[in-house]
Amino acid sequence: KTVSIAEAIQHHRLLPLYTPHDLTKLDELEDVLIQAGLPIIEITLRSSQAMDAIAYLAKRNRLLVGAGTVRTLAQAQEAVHAGAQFLVSPAVVPEVLDYARGVDIPIYPGVATPSDIQLAVSYGVSTVKFFPAHLYGGLEAIKSLRGPFYDIGFVPTGGIDERNYLDYLATDGVVAVGGSFIVSDHVLSQADHGLHQLSQLVEAAKK
Ligand code: 3PG
Repeated sequence: KTVSIAEAIQHHRLLPLYTPHDLTKLDELEDVLIQAGLPIIEITLRSSQAMDAIAYLAKRNRLLVGAGTVRTLAQAQEAVHAGAQFLVSPAVVPEVLDYARGVDIPIYPGVATPSDIQLAVSYGVSTVKFFPAHLYGGLEAIKSLRGPFYDIGFVPTGGIDERNYLDYLATDGVVAVGGSFIVSDHVLSQADHGLHQLSQLVEAAKK
């Protein structure tokens, strides 16, 4: 893979978030993402299978795979050892940010306020996850935060869905949107129809 994580996220403008509950679904997950032209996934550490899923996907090396819901240093270390190529946190976790910088792994810390952003920036971060976007003011909040933080990229996540994601993507400073709406077991269970829906989502995000 020659493309960097930051480039891939900027290019696709979608960061799908997936919580694995059944490792046998991972091949299907890979297939649908690759066929839809979105070869990237954030595996959230919210199930007992999550680390194994990261290790499996990283070893196969067909998707860019990252770990989400990284709340502790131990989780960050375990995820990186399992092969995670990027990290996403729901908050600004200083020891996780220090670690990510030390091992040169991109990290997207969750922020909601100017103070959060200022703190994240002090750890060398230039793109933040704005979370939970729908509760902390949505795109109006991003527009205001972009005043002082004009050089910071935002990845809004939380409450983003197929109805509002294009509005977020049309907002200045929004690098990509994240969320569980992009790919889910529901999408996987719908086979061709699921692939069709995902492909449409991916195509529309590019415009
Ligand atoms: C996250 O951790 O980013 C959120 O749980 C995602 O929120 P969503 O399920 O509303 O997309």
